[in-house]
Amino acid sequence: MANDIRFFELNTGAKMPSLGLGTWQSSPGLVGEAVATAIKAGYRHIDCAQVYGNEKEIGLVLRKLFEDGVVKREELWITSKLWCTDHAPEDVLEALDRTLRDLQLEYIDLFLIHWPVRMKKGSVGFKPENLVEPDIPGTWRAMETLYDSCKARAIGVSNFSTKKLSDLLDVARVPPAVDQVECHLSWQQGKLRSFCKSKGVHLSGYSPLGSPGTTWIKSDVLKNPILLSVAEKLGKTPAQVALRWGLQMGHSVLPKSTNEARIKENLDVFCWSIPEELFAKFSEIEQARLLRGTSFVHDTFGPYRSLEELWDGEL
Ligand code: A2P
Repeated sequence: MANDIRFFELNTGAKMPSLGLGTWQSSPGLVGEAVATAIKAGYRHIDCAQVYGNEKEIGLVLRKLFEDGVVKREELWITSKLWCTDHAPEDVLEALDRTLRDLQLEYIDLFLIHWPVRMKKGSVGFKPENLVEPDIPGTWRAMETLYDSCKARAIGVSNFSTKKLSDLLDVARVPPAVDQVECHLSWQQGKLRSFCKSKGVHLSGYSPLGSPGTTWIKSDVLKNPILLSVAEKLGKTPAQVALRWGLQMGHSVLPKSTNEARIKENLDVFCWSIPEELFAKFSEIEQARLLRGTSFVHDTFGPYRSLEELWDGEL
């Protein structure tokens, strides 16, 4: 096929594999096996974060895969994220070092500020009294030093609205390479997508299946009637069509699974495409953000008094 969309080129010149395995909510005890299964099946991109609490297990598996010659470090793309408690510039380097130790790596391909939210150093959980005013330009300068040191080969952000990304671009010496945000058929990120495109920032989509396993959100992305009818016409599963839609829209997709069959199913999104006339139907789907970040909003503590303020109206 002419455009198989295996990679997206970032503003650093690096080629990021367009499909990555998500590891949010991948339980300890299951995540290692999932990563091994994925890499053996052909995944070359793993999306991690310190706060997911599973990087040590992933590190053990990566080391074994390298030792066994299954894959080489330079063939993989590994992303991780700076948690909200480590925004102080002096903590940013330490946080990356911790992640590198846990993952048993010498460098990370992409390091993201996880949220435009700061919490007291060392605080645990989502208590409102732990929320403090962020200093994104200050945190970003520390991220830039990681980029300069090559410990992070690309740097970016996650969960940044168009406005917050724009404000950062205004002060950044090294422009963010990626904004990783919720993105699926029911939250297509129209505004952020066009802004990212105009600025050369790559949009990466988490929860590309709408996180059907997340108990505290009501997700019916994979049950959408338009998706079901397109999937039936193409002889693909709804998950495969949802992922392929993302690739054809131009963003990378990071489906999470710890199930071998579904890990493999989600990889079968290349060498076929959604034809134009079916693809166009997806723009009719009603839009609603699923992951609203309510824990980061409080009427007394922290900088965001409302969801409107956290997302700058993109709700
Ligand atoms: P599991 O890990 O048991 O496979 P998202 O990436 O949008 O957050 O979605 C992750 C959720 O979707 C998990 O609950 C995962 O469950 C489930 N999932 C992953 N792949 C598929 C698939 N191909 N079909 C249906 N559900 C899937």
